[in-house]
Amino acid sequence: MSTFKYKKNTLYCEKVNLQKLAEKNNSPFYVYSKQEIITNYKKLAKAFASVNPLICFSVKSNSNLSVLKTLKEQGSGFDIVSGGELFRTQKIKANPQTIVYAGVGKRDDEIEYALKSNILMFNCESINEIRKINFIAKELNKTAKIAVRINPDVDAQTHQYITTGKKTTKFGIAFFELEKKLKELKAMQNINFVGIHIHIGSQITQPSPYKEAITKTLKFISKLQDAGFPIEYFNIGGGYGIRYGKETITPIEKFGSTLVPLLKKSGLKIILEPGRFIVGNAGALITKVLYNKKNLGKNFMITEAGMHNLIRPSLYQAYHEIIPLHTKNKRTKKVDVVGPICESGDFFAKDRKIEAVQEGDYLAILSAGAYGFTMSSRYNSHPFISEIMIDKDQSYIIRKPEKYSDLIKNEVIL
Ligand code: LLP
Repeated sequence: MSTFKYKKNTLYCEKVNLQKLAEKNNSPFYVYSKQEIITNYKKLAKAFASVNPLICFSVKSNSNLSVLKTLKEQGSGFDIVSGGELFRTQKIKANPQTIVYAGVGKRDDEIEYALKSNILMFNCESINEIRKINFIAKELNKTAKIAVRINPDVDAQTHQYITTGKKTTKFGIAFFELEKKLKELKAMQNINFVGIHIHIGSQITQPSPYKEAITKTLKFISKLQDAGFPIEYFNIGGGYGIRYGKETITPIEKFGSTLVPLLKKSGLKIILEPGRFIVGNAGALITKVLYNKKNLGKNFMITEAGMHNLIRPSLYQAYHEIIPLHTKNKRTKKVDVVGPICESGDFFAKDRKIEAVQEGDYLAILSAGAYGFTMSSRYNSHPFISEIMIDKDQSYIIRKPEKYSDLIKNEVIL
């Protein structure tokens, strides 16, 4: 249940009138519902409660410090993929022992930073990376806890760019390949191999691909344990899908009831890495309509926001529902909703029937809380926009909008 709802003819987020909020703030901006973030976190925790998982929120989906702090207060840990994300978790004083660090391309300085920060573990993606971590840990006189990310070769049935558990992708190590390196792993003095990690993709709408991947991987974990590796943790990644439009998504309770029996039987400590599920539907991008343009019979609605603010439609042909902040006549029109960027790929919707709003009216682009701001850029020299957190009847600016001077603050004129 989204908290973005109409009261009379005006869209509210929690108890805040978004039309009024838009009139008071520089648009475009992102808006998030604190209560919905908390509710989603609790729903997921409840669905998997009987295995008492460590939930590590995937920082890449929404890395705003206030969002991270909200989740920390709920007991969440964090899944990070860079030194920058580690830095963010430190700024909100997250417990390092709740942090897991994934990614195929960890740099030396990032590995050193994470080791010095005493994070829970690295999720490792190649033998060369493990060798590197072993080497750096030795220099620092530390032992690095690691999980190896297995690529279980399972089709998550999602967009090809966000499929990560097929053997053709760059992620993880195949069972067979890891088996060949076990001897070497055992001999590494500064590595403590304690976990197995999988993450098969994102926006997964049904539990069956997880079931397949978990079943395959548990067999392999038993083999590792028999070979004398003290595997304690099983990190099953993130990827739980949300509704963007009218598609059917299996409820999270069903993911839980399908997977929990398998996980429970294993006796392993379970880690989950949700991102989108927690924040996706809790956020929207608010923008003004600048122009209604008609060209050779085609209608364009040109907004202030563009692919520099929300790239998902351009990059994945992703569907985001678009609704007015104030509905007036309900008369619809078939339009392309497009941004100001000089690229034909800069669009939010194509040939979509939406309410025929006027120039100067505001729109909400829904389900933009995950991979929205975090994937934004300053392309065409548009400053980064603001983020606003709604909590019941209050709104808080949790990122100030940038000014033109921010665009050039690190540049040097030769
Ligand atoms: N764990 C790992 C190792 C990941 O790579 C990801 C996401 C997650 C967890 C969180 O996945 P989630 O629960 O949010 O699905 N930009 C794309 C999604 C990319 C996902 C990358 N990895 C999009 O906008 O759809």
